[in-house]
Amino acid sequence: MCGIVGYIGKDQAAPIILDGLARLEYRGYDSAGMAVYDGEKVNITKSVGRLKALSELTHDGATMPGTVGIGHTRWATHGAPSNVNAHPHFNEKETIAVVHNGIIENYLALKKKLTQRGYHFVSETDTEVLAHMLDYYYKGDPMEAIIKVLHRVEGSYALGILFADFPGELFAVRKDSPLIVGQNGEGCFIASDVPAILRYTRTVTYIENQEIVRLSKEGFHVYNVDAEELEKPSVTIEWDAEAAEKAGYEHFMLKEMYEQPKTVADTAGPRIRGNDIVIEELGMSEEELLKVKKIHIVACGSAYHAGVTGKYVLEGMARIPVEVDLASEFRYRDPILEEGAMVIVISQSGETADSLAALREAKERGFKVLGIVNVVGSSIAREADNVMYTWAGPEIAVATTKAYSAQLIALYLLAMKFSRVRHTVTEEEFSEMLGDLRRLPDQIELLLNNKNRIQRFANRYIAAKEVFFIGRGIDYAISMEGSLKLKEISYIHSEAYAAGELKHGTISLIEEGTLVAAVATQSSLYQKIISNMVEVKSRGAFVLAVTCEGNREIEKAADYVIYIPITNRFFTNSLAIIPLQLFSYYVAVGKGCDVDKPRNLAKSVTVE
Ligand code: G6P
Repeated sequence: MCGIVGYIGKDQAAPIILDGLARLEYRGYDSAGMAVYDGEKVNITKSVGRLKALSELTHDGATMPGTVGIGHTRWATHGAPSNVNAHPHFNEKETIAVVHNGIIENYLALKKKLTQRGYHFVSETDTEVLAHMLDYYYKGDPMEAIIKVLHRVEGSYALGILFADFPGELFAVRKDSPLIVGQNGEGCFIASDVPAILRYTRTVTYIENQEIVRLSKEGFHVYNVDAEELEKPSVTIEWDAEAAEKAGYEHFMLKEMYEQPKTVADTAGPRIRGNDIVIEELGMSEEELLKVKKIHIVACGSAYHAGVTGKYVLEGMARIPVEVDLASEFRYRDPILEEGAMVIVISQSGETADSLAALREAKERGFKVLGIVNVVGSSIAREADNVMYTWAGPEIAVATTKAYSAQLIALYLLAMKFSRVRHTVTEEEFSEMLGDLRRLPDQIELLLNNKNRIQRFANRYIAAKEVFFIGRGIDYAISMEGSLKLKEISYIHSEAYAAGELKHGTISLIEEGTLVAAVATQSSLYQKIISNMVEVKSRGAFVLAVTCEGNREIEKAADYVIYIPITNRFFTNSLAIIPLQLFSYYVAVGKGCDVDKPRNLAKSVTVE
């Protein structure tokens, strides 16, 4: 959701910015633009649509000479996607250019004041107020102007700013929107995320809230809002640029689906020690774990669906009550958190605005928060009291696959840890579970190798108008994720229902040929779900069943069956999701959809 890249150094800025923005495309955007200082003045070029249009317009940056510049991919919030609303935004004299990720909440009041002072606005954006405010406060010292603006704006922002009077410098600042800085001896970079600059440097500094960065080609300095210089550590990024490349796959999503065996092994492996689970990052002793009376899981999107699975697993395995909330609901519903409550925030990006706000809400009430996060050094990772990283590596496709799979594993590990401490499983059961956990990567691989069969099946549903997913218990949780995957990337209307709920309304939507995907991995519920399948089939539905090997009985109620290997009943979601991901992917590919960058969606939802 909005991407920022800036460069100052020995090389031409525009091609570096275009390259960096391309690596942030996954964040979602609908227009793009760049500002580059050409030795005399700042020039801006913008275009609606894909970044390719901006590259063509500028001949891959060649028409915008200069060694300092800022660029932006915009995901429209205030004002439609258009050239005039695209960033960068100028002050009227065209001497200050700004790119912004986030939302200025009090922009209407600020706009009114500035208008009264004679400023003219050309766009409908909240960002343009920043350019005019900087102009208003600028009396020859950029830092002074930036600090004054920061004191007046409310909301979230990561900004890149160019002052034509200071062409040897680039400025940046953040609050609640991600911003990193990098340097390589030849120049310095700003960006919303690491992949944007990984090609040029691995030395990265994470900028914190309300820190201001002043960059030149020699290096950079970071200040607080009192203009005092801060010591900032840099980190070396271990993963390489190839991890964020397609590596021969047609789409990032396909590549990331294929990385799932490794992801699952990487997330589980280091925490399995002999016959035990060790989660050092939990930061809790066995006594403390025993004191946990209730777990609150808070997340958005697929991370929320992982949380729903987590509820079934933690409750079923460790017998701890679990409440799962959408972060956007949790933060405003005045949740009841009682003594003994543990809060878990799950997030791939670690930057989702609602999840971050929910984390802060829990912390403000004095509760410790465990983050289950993928992006190292992200806001949620930094603000949570403890972080359990899902070692999925960079995920680029907007629709998550491998990070979701890694979240499931993290939750299984937690459940196993709790169940051991609370003695809710026997030693024998625990050992069996460990064995099953270790086998998951190979079993996922097996399912991925079955892709041709699923592709053939998916091709039949390219023209589908709607698809329903049904399941009971833990299978309902996976139905939710299967349904989200399909609608996200193929734009086919799809809903997930607890199978027992069908009769209370949904069944009226079933028509001749409607596809109903029934997930049936829980032997204790087979008979129940088979009845539901028969109910929809007799009303004309075509029933696809995803079930465990050996459950041949299901064939009498299903039109098409996909079998998953046998595993522990709590781990079946990790296997059942694979064919559902492949199905969604091939339907979307068949329809010619932009699989990695679905319309209107963003990978990292950094605004509310
Ligand atoms: C967006 C993404 C989803 C993701 C959700 C939560 O909607 O497209 O794939 O599940 O945000 O994101 P998070 O980074 O917090 O897991």
